[in-house]
Amino acid sequence: MLITVDGPAASGKGTIARALAAHYGLPHMDTGLLYRSVALSLLRWGGDPASEFEAVRACKTGLVPPDDPELRSEIVGEVASRISAFPAVRAALLDRQRDFADQQGGAVLDGRDTGTVIAPHATAKLFVTASLEIRARRRTDELVAKDKPAHFDEVLIDISARDERDAGREAAPLLMAQDAELLDTGELQIDEAIAAAIALVEQRR
Ligand code: DC
Repeated sequence: MLITVDGPAASGKGTIARALAAHYGLPHMDTGLLYRSVALSLLRWGGDPASEFEAVRACKTGLVPPDDPELRSEIVGEVASRISAFPAVRAALLDRQRDFADQQGGAVLDGRDTGTVIAPHATAKLFVTASLEIRARRRTDELVAKDKPAHFDEVLIDISARDERDAGREAAPLLMAQDAELLDTGELQIDEAIAAAIALVEQRR
């Protein structure tokens, strides 16, 4: 069974995708980490995030290990969003994601375009979202919990800019696949959101 979980920043898609993978015993890929990894490689060798050529070179320099804590930083997320708008960067990362999606036994992938571009043939597609204010509140709380400086207003502006860039780009913009199930996590606790996601997947099996 192949499950895709798309959605904007801080929607809860990663938490839901991991929970679905655990529930169904499937391998999970956080596709955002690939873009973050390219962004971090680029930053580390002093490349220019505005250059498609240099961003593509960063795709080839070897990816950063997924447990590197810097991958989750706000600056890396910001640069990942910028370089992910380059078609050549998306093309360079495509096969890795498709191969993961099409492995025997199935998989769960989460990201911005997994249900629309990477695996349009998925068994079940979820589009996880919540209002901008709720997502900004969650992200602020996460940062505060990690002792990182965070102001709600600034986080809200950052997430809103990221939404606009991810949804407004020409290459694989963030949008809900026509055959995806919408899951608004705004009013849900984590366990309720996971239960709702499992119920939606069960409907599609
Ligand atoms: O989900 P995330 O915040 O880790 O993703 C970081 C950026 O990577 C996001 O702003 C856009 C890009 N991305 C993408 O374009 N396509 C994906 N499938 C996943 C992430």
